[in-house]
Amino acid sequence: MLSLISIDDLTKEDLQYIIDKSITIYNGDNLYPGLSNMASHIFAILFFEPSTRTKMSFESVIYRHNGKVLNYDHNTSSSLKGESFQDTIKTIDKYCDMFIIRHSDSFIFDNIQSLTNKPVINAGNGAYEHPTQAIIDATTIVNHFNVWNVNTNAPQILLVGDLSKSRTINSLIKCLHKLFPEIIFYLFFSSNKTDYMTWSNELHSYIIEKNITILPIHSYQEVIHHVDVVYITRPQTERHNIEYHDGLTITPQIIDQMKETAIVMHPLPRNKELPTSCDSNHRSQYFKQVEFSLPVRRVIIEYLMGYI
Ligand code: NCD
Repeated sequence: MLSLISIDDLTKEDLQYIIDKSITIYNGDNLYPGLSNMASHIFAILFFEPSTRTKMSFESVIYRHNGKVLNYDHNTSSSLKGESFQDTIKTIDKYCDMFIIRHSDSFIFDNIQSLTNKPVINAGNGAYEHPTQAIIDATTIVNHFNVWNVNTNAPQILLVGDLSKSRTINSLIKCLHKLFPEIIFYLFFSSNKTDYMTWSNELHSYIIEKNITILPIHSYQEVIHHVDVVYITRPQTERHNIEYHDGLTITPQIIDQMKETAIVMHPLPRNKELPTSCDSNHRSQYFKQVEFSLPVRRVIIEYLMGYI
């Protein structure tokens, strides 16, 4: 049994397997085909940060397959009596077969193996990683463009938003680079170190170490006609005090300049960077990402639990 704390925990082959299986389920007649071993297991869901999609999609998938969910409620738990995260995990370890955890601390999983030998899924750790969201996003891209061998046909991705604190961008860069080493990312970049459009030191080191091609841009007009994906995120205002840059807001007029086959993605929730006036454009795929969260999170659970 494995844990999924970072995209680094999976090989390229693991990712391809999970994505292929998720697309097969998504495109099949029934999103919930067959029996799953989830029915014989208990899944502990511990969210120390707010969530709608991630938490409810995990719950939905587990309920659909007759698994049992233990929902930890931070506000009524013994952590209000001073209990540590470590003691909470060591306790719930006795009650469950798998953990699904979201926490604001980027380092919360550093010693998790000393607390439990059950598989742990990272559902978001601070500004660091959100591996299941990245696999959902990669699956949406692979399904839309129907390409694996992108060395000759790599989708070009424009990343827009809070580069310094967005865990979805961190994990997506890692995931897509692992799948498609030749991929090129464009991003709205500012060299001002206090700006949220500059990357964190960790992401910067990773980009250098892995030799990832990242090209900075300063306005949509520089690349909007040729990119295949615009991936937008909201400013992470809960993590730092930042002033919004109006130039990041995408509009129906900007989307209309994209290639017919290109897509706009967002992990949601959105703020003003993505107005609802963009929703009716056929290129807007963010609710498709929401749909993919079900087969992808199902396959991830089954893979880590060793059912498949
Ligand atoms: C993201 C998250 O929590 O990191 N949302 C999600 O899980 N779909 C994005 C965000 O909060 O900005």
